[in-house]
Amino acid sequence: LTVDWDAGHYDTGGYEHYLLKEISDQPESVARTLRGRLDDRFHIAHLGGLNLDPRETRAFRRVKIIGCGSAYYAGQIGAQLIEELARIPADAEPASEFRYRSPVVEHDTLYVAVSQSGETYDTLAAVQELKRKGGRVLGVVNAVGSAIAREVDGGVYLHAGPEVSVASTKAFTSTAVAFALIALHFGRVRDLSPSDGRRIADGLRRLPEQIERIVEQGDAIAALARKYAPHPGMMFVGRVRGYPVAREGAQKLKEISYVHAEAYPASELKHGPLALIGPDMPTVAVVPDDELLDKNLTTLGEIRARGGKVLMIGHREPDAKLAEDVIVVPKNEVELDPILLGIPLQLFAYHAAVALERDVDKPRNLAKSVTVE
Ligand code: AGP
Repeated sequence: LTVDWDAGHYDTGGYEHYLLKEISDQPESVARTLRGRLDDRFHIAHLGGLNLDPRETRAFRRVKIIGCGSAYYAGQIGAQLIEELARIPADAEPASEFRYRSPVVEHDTLYVAVSQSGETYDTLAAVQELKRKGGRVLGVVNAVGSAIAREVDGGVYLHAGPEVSVASTKAFTSTAVAFALIALHFGRVRDLSPSDGRRIADGLRRLPEQIERIVEQGDAIAALARKYAPHPGMMFVGRVRGYPVAREGAQKLKEISYVHAEAYPASELKHGPLALIGPDMPTVAVVPDDELLDKNLTTLGEIRARGGKVLMIGHREPDAKLAEDVIVVPKNEVELDPILLGIPLQLFAYHAAVALERDVDKPRNLAKSVTVE
């Protein structure tokens, strides 16, 4: 069974584009991802579809997440959440690379395949290779009954609803939320304390209302997008929790506005890309208010000293010398902040694409679901 999400069956709900509808939908889509999954008594997430009992959950020594494009970047956020909350070593890799390198499949590694459509050929082929070698594979999938959903041993559906626009937005955010639920679940089965479990569960419950507040900043973000869109290229930087957010921000911008965008870990700038910084190459810096704040602000100073403009996405206004423009995002728990920091970058890319008169919902050369090799 596959669910046909043909754009013809849905309208834009009064929005100019599906993409803006889907970005604006996120308070509801995230609420759906969370619905019925948070337990007030034990501060754990209920995810029956994982098909893992507590003993099996405790036995895994490593988590490997695979996906393509934005699904891979969301998987990187997921890997960080699993490491932070469950203290299981975790990393993410493009499924397209993983499947071609004859991966060593270990019995105590849990594999997680991420896909909005559930039909991406490279991800499906990686899952099939894993199954052939006896790997335990979960899916984090949006499309119910899709090929990947049918192939995996268990998993979590996003319930984000249909995503029509080629660029993924609400599925990306819901994937990060689903990983927060998985990380909370694994953490509470392993060594996360009840009070930390409650802290994360409460933070997750705050997300829909906080996303609403970001979406309300749409006009201000549109003005910034119009200011930055004419540049020939943009640099996106972030450190640790901010890095996958920066990668997805760059991906969104290039995908729909065709503006060249590169994403780097902030600490890597001085190892090469700093040579690109100057008045023609502005930087979007993802700067969460976490233990790395001072290091990130130092990086902004280095960019400004080389004549680079900085648009900072963070939780507070920095010294005016460090950033020309700032988008302030509501603060949540540090582990969950990446989920919110990505949303202004979706709006930024959308409005840049509109300003440049691009085909927002159907960017050139791209398909919603890549079902070929
Ligand atoms: C996202 O904006 C892109 N369209 C693309 O990177 C996408 O995330 C990728 O092709 C994976 O798709 P999937 O989630 O349907 O597997």
